[in-house]
Amino acid sequence: MASRKLLLLPGDGIGPEAMAEVRKLIAAINENFGSGFETEEGLVGGSAYDAHGAAISDADMTKAMAADAVLFGAVGGPKWDAVPYDVRPEAGLLRLRKDMQLFANLRPAICYPALAASSSLKPEVVEGLDILIVRELTGGVYFGEPKEIIDLGNGQKRGIDTQVYDTFEIERIAGVAFELARTRQNRVTSMEKRNVMKSGVLWNEVVTQAHKAKYSDVKLDHMLADAGGMQLVRWPKQFDVIVTDNLFGDMLSDVAAMLTGSLGMLPSASLGAPDAITGKRKALYEPVHGSAPDIAGQGIANPIAMIASFAMCLRYSFNMAAEADRLEAAISAVLNEGLRTKDILSAGMTEVGTAQMGDAIISKFLALS
Ligand code: NAI
Ligand code: MG
Repeated sequence: MASRKLLLLPGDGIGPEAMAEVRKLIAAINENFGSGFETEEGLVGGSAYDAHGAAISDADMTKAMAADAVLFGAVGGPKWDAVPYDVRPEAGLLRLRKDMQLFANLRPAICYPALAASSSLKPEVVEGLDILIVRELTGGVYFGEPKEIIDLGNGQKRGIDTQVYDTFEIERIAGVAFELARTRQNRVTSMEKRNVMKSGVLWNEVVTQAHKAKYSDVKLDHMLADAGGMQLVRWPKQFDVIVTDNLFGDMLSDVAAMLTGSLGMLPSASLGAPDAITGKRKALYEPVHGSAPDIAGQGIANPIAMIASFAMCLRYSFNMAAEADRLEAAISAVLNEGLRTKDILSAGMTEVGTAQMGDAIISKFLALS
């Protein structure tokens, strides 16, 4: 059996509370199916700063580079608001993304039927929704140079950010989107603004060429990103996989996420390039939410975002799609039975804490197996 090495970085606030549920789940999977997951533990964020004065130590970075996948909780909190910029908790996540070269950010928007009624959109618009936004994560306007504020000397200043994309960056993110589409409904919608941006013209051209050269079996559409935003709230079920740049992806993935409910439900994955020899991609899986200092330590955080992130890990890092489907089905079933953490509680439902929600999902997962 191939190695299955996981590095667990629980982080701060509710990060460790959510990670505790995944740790139980991994133990249950190993015990029941002999899956042989090996876990290592590391520190990240404020807890790493307290221990080593850095948001992640070199030793833990080495473990991350050697792992088959990294599971990340959340970082930050008021305790570290005053620490120097370079070692602030978020620097740990940024270093992981940079050193592991995680250029593809995957944000699914799945609407669990039991929660369709609590969406801000009509239930029929979101029920059964299952879309995947593939956002380019290491290029574009967040990183392009020049990036500065210039004093023009006449009482005016100029703020500059630069959107830059090279062919290879567009090609590799398009490749991820097309490959994922093949495992889903086989449809990709590429979003840019070629009407007003040169990088958008190139984006469109490179995606079109990649499609023609290697992925012509996948259905490809192009949409201007602003129109895409409208379509996402009008009729989101028209999409399967959306591929877009760093800035548009940041906004569109947040829009898509909110169609389906609470921050406590949302998983994500960040993938790197396949290794030349093993073909394995470096990968980090994390909930979309932060460390939620307002509820940390109370045992009430929703662990579903973290557990669903582990489902993505099974699917994308370990080729365990059947197990991932089953884990998502277990989440759905537990919601159907009326169990709710406080953040998703509605009238007539049963309120449970973090550990009870985790336990219920794990036993449902085992029962479905
Ligand atoms: P947040 O996501 O931590 O919390 C926003 C709101 O959602 C809070 O009211 C919180 O209680 C609630 N919430 C979030 N996750 C939840 C869950 N699993 N169950 C129940 N309720 C949940 O965002 P916020 O408050 O803006 O940031 C708090 C800290 O987290 C800051 O230090 C921020 O920098 C950091 N942060 C870290 C991220 C990461 O580690 N990737 C991402 C976002 C924020
Ligand atoms: Mg965002």
